[in-house]
Amino acid sequence: MTRTTYSAVAIVLHWAIAIAIVGMIPLGFWMHNAIDARETQAQAIAAYQLHKSIGLTILLLSVVRLGWRIVNPPPPLPAAMAAWEKFAAHAVHWIFYALIIALPLSGWIYVSAQWRGDAPLNVPTLWFGLFNVPHLFALPHAALETRAAVADAAMEAHEVMAKGALALLVLHVAAAFKHHIYDRDHVLAAMVPGLDRTAAPDARRRLALIAGFAAIFIATISAIWAFASPPHAAPIEIAADEAPYDLPHTYEPPAPATPTEPAPLPRVGVLGNPPAAQAPAAQDSAPPAWIVDEAASEIAFTGTHAAVAFRGTFTSWRADIRFDPDNLAGSRAVVTIDTASARDGVSLHEQSLAGREWFDVANHPTATYRTTFIRRREGNEYQALGVLTIKGRDIELDLPFTLTIEGDRATMTGQARISREAADLGQDSDADAHYVSRRIGVEVRVVANRAP
Ligand code: HEM
Repeated sequence: MTRTTYSAVAIVLHWAIAIAIVGMIPLGFWMHNAIDARETQAQAIAAYQLHKSIGLTILLLSVVRLGWRIVNPPPPLPAAMAAWEKFAAHAVHWIFYALIIALPLSGWIYVSAQWRGDAPLNVPTLWFGLFNVPHLFALPHAALETRAAVADAAMEAHEVMAKGALALLVLHVAAAFKHHIYDRDHVLAAMVPGLDRTAAPDARRRLALIAGFAAIFIATISAIWAFASPPHAAPIEIAADEAPYDLPHTYEPPAPATPTEPAPLPRVGVLGNPPAAQAPAAQDSAPPAWIVDEAASEIAFTGTHAAVAFRGTFTSWRADIRFDPDNLAGSRAVVTIDTASARDGVSLHEQSLAGREWFDVANHPTATYRTTFIRRREGNEYQALGVLTIKGRDIELDLPFTLTIEGDRATMTGQARISREAADLGQDSDADAHYVSRRIGVEVRVVANRAP
């Protein structure tokens, strides 16, 4: 028996994909503009992940739908339709099938190229935050020119197809209404369960129906274009001193030197211990070892991403500490941090941090900080000079810190800042600090017990 309506599976897939696409078009245009405005950058970053997640779901559903369509032929078009109308209807349907697969696929190819504008990108695609979607055709490993060319072509196609889908949608909806209102055939009812196709509306009902449909249609299209218009926000300008992108207010830079303070230590041109002549003479007895109380200690990193402050910690690190306030020359600390343990609760950040451009955990699983010289500033204020070895690079890093020792328990807190450029962090995709602050704060709190 020839069916007169679509199957339940075809109807559910049709409406799910249609609603998703109608939402995706304004979302795509909005985020494309919003990513470059400071006020909306953080929301745009979330919108990109949402757009990609919904888009990939549309791709999956579209493949299922096409398979279903091939195996389950739809109800025939009304016999009364002219041949050209039937041809046009079939053509629009097949172009739609091509679009709902090629459009999301072009988006996937675009993000796989990891290139935007004139710079490479390093942004994973997390499907609704649940898992990392692989990039296609190993594109991130291709030559930069290839990635740029692929990204440009894919986004051009993405935009043209999205606009084409919108135009086709207008045609498609108009045709469906025409069938229902003028031809009074089963075409729309075949896709809308419960729609009464036998009722013959009188002239006034028909007029009201037309006006109602027209109003809904115009409102939908206007809403799409209203959402699609660029946000009225100032483009991001990066100030030379990076004031708005600098560390969040929790960071207090070390106090400037006071006249009563001893002259600053001479900085050595090369890394290593200061010349022996300048270092206080080491005492005979070696400073005691201190065992870190992990539960009470923390190494945190701070900064801003899309003008929003973040604070994360390294959940795995260890420290070899020998310290005696009366024997600073013999005191030292070596801290080893597992770079894969960086956590700030935002899976997008955590995935990116592990990548080649940031901590490159595959090739550099640890970063190390070694003090080269410790001196007392005044009271319980100290300063450690040291070397941070990160991604195979040595960076001089001063760590001013406060220390209190009560019996056999010591509490040390210190703060420092690291230049992303010096540490080679995020230099491919964000060297000009468009997204992430130029400097990263480090906050250290170590509570340790004197070894027996
Ligand atoms: C049927 C599904 C989809 C529709 C209707 C759609 C629609 C759009 C539209 C209208 C834009 C704005 C284009 C422009 O401003 O020039 C856009 C941008 C974008 N789309 Fe899609 N898209 C879909 C699927 C996908 C998928 C599956 C992905 C990736 C996995 C994706 C990734 C992107 C990205 C990253 C942009 C922004 C490009 C940029 O600003 O650099 N899209 N999309």
